[in-house]
Amino acid sequence: MTSPVEQAAELLRRTRFLLVLTGAGISAESGIPTFRGKDGLWNRYDPQDLATPEALARNPRLVWQWYNWRRGLILKARPNPGHEALVHLEQHFGDRFLLVTQNVDGLHQRAGSQRMVELHGNIFQEVCTRCGFERYHEATYPEEALPPACPQCGGLLRPGVVFFGETLPEEALRQAFAAARQADTALVIGTSAVVYPAAALPYEVKNHGGRLIEVNPEATPLTSLAEVSLHEPAGRVLPRLVRLLHSRNPKA
Ligand code: OAD
Repeated sequence: MTSPVEQAAELLRRTRFLLVLTGAGISAESGIPTFRGKDGLWNRYDPQDLATPEALARNPRLVWQWYNWRRGLILKARPNPGHEALVHLEQHFGDRFLLVTQNVDGLHQRAGSQRMVELHGNIFQEVCTRCGFERYHEATYPEEALPPACPQCGGLLRPGVVFFGETLPEEALRQAFAAARQADTALVIGTSAVVYPAAALPYEVKNHGGRLIEVNPEATPLTSLAEVSLHEPAGRVLPRLVRLLHSRNPKA
């Protein structure tokens, strides 16, 4: 009997264009907490207090304390073998590949991914709410500097992430959906697949006749639609999947 990971490797061998969609689960093994589930951030914190434009207007210091804490966790973290396996997949598929991430942690780029788009922005990006000044600032702030002020006009800086109720970056969204229409396989990793429009991407691939491979220790709304489900941590199963893809004899 062929194991699920061998089936997934076989599907990848037949794939012409691969869309990869990642969520918080791919960074879990790097020590970055996910949002939902038992130990998820949204179990401990209310997104209405921390991740909306209203929350920023009401209490910018509290919002920044939270993002600053997450920046600290991310700066201490390293990409894990799951992120690294996706770099190998990118090299294998070349321009027949796009990685779309909902993560704001930048770990895919640190691992070496290049053909990728960030749908929810980046936690180290900063934008001035008054003059629109933008910068990439890969650092945490000392507590007394929060909330940070714009170096150009003194206005309030905000993190360059998508808050609840905001639209996604237009160009990233366009590229992601164009790739979903082209893709004959979607590899969906570490996402609860409940936040739209990102969660619509696997359906878009399916609707255009493509197939889904899901990597997630838990079942999600996509599981019953997936051709192959790999119910294992991404950092463990993705390196195996890449090895099998490259091996001549898939049974070896
Ligand atoms: P979630 O926290 O909703 O889901 C994480 C998923 O990862 C769950 O389905 C877990 O079962 C799975 N998971 C956990 N550990 C894993 C591992 N080692 N390997 C593979 N999978 C694992 O995170 P997202 O789906 O990314 O949005 O959440 C989507 C969006 O909701 C986020 O981008 C964020 C959040 O609110 C914004 O901030 C706009």
